[in-house]
Amino acid sequence: HQLMSDSLFIINSFAREYFTDTLFNSEEGQNVGVSYFEERGFTEETIRKFQLGYCLNTRDAFAQTALAKGYNLEYLQKTGLVTIRNEQPADNYRGRVIFPIHNQSGKILGFGARILVKSDRAPKYINSPENEIYVKSRVLYGTYFARHAIDKLNECLLVEGYTDVISLHQAGVENVVASSGTSLTQDQLRLIKKYTNNLTIIYDGDSAGIKAALRGLDMAVEESLNVKLVLLPDKEDPDSYVQRIGAAAFRTFIEENKQDFVLFKLQLSMQEAGNDSNKKSQLVNEIAETISKIDKAEDFTRQQDYIRQCSQLLRIDEQGLVALVNKFIR
Ligand code: UTP
Ligand code: MN
Ligand code: MN
Ligand code: MN
Ligand code: MN
Repeated sequence: HQLMSDSLFIINSFAREYFTDTLFNSEEGQNVGVSYFEERGFTEETIRKFQLGYCLNTRDAFAQTALAKGYNLEYLQKTGLVTIRNEQPADNYRGRVIFPIHNQSGKILGFGARILVKSDRAPKYINSPENEIYVKSRVLYGTYFARHAIDKLNECLLVEGYTDVISLHQAGVENVVASSGTSLTQDQLRLIKKYTNNLTIIYDGDSAGIKAALRGLDMAVEESLNVKLVLLPDKEDPDSYVQRIGAAAFRTFIEENKQDFVLFKLQLSMQEAGNDSNKKSQLVNEIAETISKIDKAEDFTRQQDYIRQCSQLLRIDEQGLVALVNKFIR
């Protein structure tokens, strides 16, 4: 297992260098790859920091180079860099820009490879398959670049995508990691908890983004994370928004629009419930359950605060809510 892991890391490291070299030192890399990143507003410094790359739009230029260097075909397939097409090794990421995914110490776990022009026939991103070193549910994109800032600011911003992390770094916001489009897992939350208890979710301003964020809430509360939410304007993601309004305005926007996630969820469910009394009592139960998950021993005043604020919002008796919360604590 260890040998296998080491081999995959070595292949990924070789591939990372190969794709960087292709990006900067080939005509196609310059004309297609560098141009693409420049159009997105990434500086050369940013491209180099995140070790972005380009995979030539040929059948097997990478595969042939790697095989000629003696890398094992089976391992190359395991990393997802090479596939078998018409019974011959072929490049999986051809004609795509490359985003290496680093672990906490900077080693390459895998890659995200973005198509240059969106199409109905191919996925926008191809990501590495799961293998001995890349387990999606345990990885947050950007931890290697963000950990010092998270530690220093005692807050972690969570976004959806690779380019959100990169654009925010370029704007001087460095305490940011991405869930890479999946809903949050317990392992990812534990990773964040190693650095801070304060999590601020900045998901895309669409309903899919909000739903994805809500799914992680109870889990986050259980991990005694203090969760805030920022909703972006419709059709924006952190990358598009910071590139549009600039670094300073973006930071002000985040500070002014942070809201407590438990209270946000309550308000959202209240809107949904309307005057339906069944739905109302169901939501009182749900919010009581969420509050019950705040670890009393660790955070007694926070639980008290929520009980007070939620009972006010719901116009219900505070002691009644206390009793309900206690029913969920065993
Ligand atoms: P988005 O669709 O919001 O993409 O998916 P994005 O990050 O804004 O990318 P750009 O700006 O169009 O380049 C958010 C994240 O979900 C994952 C990726 O990690 C992406 O960054 N995703 C998305 C995939 O893995 N595959 C896809 O086809 C789409
Ligand atoms: Mn510390
Ligand atoms: Mn989205
Ligand atoms: Mn985007
Ligand atoms: Mn996005």
